[in-house]
Amino acid sequence: MKILSKEVLADSQGTRIVKITVQSPDIAAKARAGQFVVLMVNEEGERIPLTIVWADAEKGVITLIAQEAGFTTKLLGGSMPGGSLYSIVGPLGHPTEIRKYGRVILVGGGVGIAEIYPVAAAMKGAGNYVTAVIGSRTKELMILERELKEISDEVMVLTDDGSYGRKGFVTEALKELLEKEKHDLVYAVGPLPMMRAVAGVTRPFGVPARVSLNAIMVDGTGMCGCCRVSVGREVKFSCVDGPEFDASQVDWGELLTRNGIYIEKEKHICRLNNIA
Ligand code: FES
Repeated sequence: MKILSKEVLADSQGTRIVKITVQSPDIAAKARAGQFVVLMVNEEGERIPLTIVWADAEKGVITLIAQEAGFTTKLLGGSMPGGSLYSIVGPLGHPTEIRKYGRVILVGGGVGIAEIYPVAAAMKGAGNYVTAVIGSRTKELMILERELKEISDEVMVLTDDGSYGRKGFVTEALKELLEKEKHDLVYAVGPLPMMRAVAGVTRPFGVPARVSLNAIMVDGTGMCGCCRVSVGREVKFSCVDGPEFDASQVDWGELLTRNGIYIEKEKHICRLNNIA
């Protein structure tokens, strides 16, 4: 799969977020908001899931945005236009249920902002009033603000350190919005603690909250069991049953533990391969 372009969207405080467009006509023709691909950068590499942020069926191109967090995302970030990815499988997962809900709030934290973008666009296209609440640690790490402003009715921008937009967390802004006006759906993507906090904030208001989970995946097709999560006391596979679930039903403690399993091994592999 040929890489057509690469752009560094953010690079600050040890966090780098890259945008890559890839020639992939079959996936571009079928992709819908909320779906993802599983890619391999090279033949020996691991498979990683990434949300399809844009799909242009006419040009046969998909756009992926990744934060360089582990060995493979760093390898991906080092890929250059003209090069190729070893494989991409997709589109995977259930698409987001897009319909006219009324007032929809999309909450994006960090690289999760990229993942709410296609859903925001589709929700707006379905006639919803769309409010995007986006947050990053600092100004330099804010992504896709302009793009979200183009398709949303309102965009609230927050940074943890107050260096841009309003100082504070997306969950504080979400609570204020819910107190001010009745909303019909909240959709959130970001770090697990943020999504867990969204579940807590939305519960007293009785507003449905959907989250797209970034569970660890291997095959992405329901065969390995690696991405299992407990939702409403049932075992679900993020790749085939999700990636979206009811935030109030997710066992967040278990998911946080599972997602932390490989952190030390990732660091070790990066050191072995001289990848910072
Ligand atoms: S990634 Fe293997 S079952 Fe979901």
